[in-house]
Amino acid sequence: MRLELTRCTVRPWLAADGNALARHANNRNVSIHLRDRFPFPYELEHARKFLDWLMVQEQPTVWAIEVDGEAAGGIGIEQKTDVERISAEIGYWLGESCWNRGVVTEALQAVTAEMFRRFDLMRLYALPFADNPASVRVLEKAGYVLEGRLRQSAIKDGKVRDQLLYATYRS
Ligand SMILES: CC(C)(COP(=O)(O)OP(=O)(O)OC[C@H]1O[C@@H](n2cnc3c(N)ncnc32)[C@H](O)[C@@H]1OP(=O)(O)O)[C@@H](O)C(=O)NCCC(=O)NCCS
Repeated sequence: MRLELTRCTVRPWLAADGNALARHANNRNVSIHLRDRFPFPYELEHARKFLDWLMVQEQPTVWAIEVDGEAAGGIGIEQKTDVERISAEIGYWLGESCWNRGVVTEALQAVTAEMFRRFDLMRLYALPFADNPASVRVLEKAGYVLEGRLRQSAIKDGKVRDQLLYATYRS
């Protein structure tokens, strides 16, 4: 999948993205809002392992967000299984040097539409921590609606957090 947009390009990750990935990802202000599988510090070795894993996936569902000619962030879905196979969780991040330029809003809108075209999905949802106003704003600008608050549902760096459930639907 390649989506040429105004502020960014969403495209497959490449083996050559390792240095840019590690540079943008190695930031506490990014990782603090993400699951623990996105490590901090984020070393070049983490980037290499991620890219090695991705290169052997048959149908990858995570893509790079390219800004100013380099991979500066990522966006992807995780399709659920069994009776929830018509749902997928969407996640995203962007290097701090590119924040507040409308990049992820644009990427999220385009990827959301493309996921409904490509996959038999009825629903896409996201679970931002409740104290992540930038992500909430991005979701709302991209047309996702608040379905609820999952109280005390997650723990990050020893701090129990609420998550918000945002979703959008095929029709
Ligand atoms: C959340 C994130 C992806 C947003 O990316 P981005 O490209 O900067 O987003 P956009 O520029 O499209 O939109 C950001 C919006 O949030 C707003 N915003 C940013 N910081 C904010 C804050 N502290 N409080 C309130 N609003 C804030 C911006 O003003 C903008 O809204 P506007 O267009 O109405 O002015 C980016 O900040 C990021 O990667 N954060 C760390 C990882 C993360 O949180 N991922 C999501 C996990 S659910």
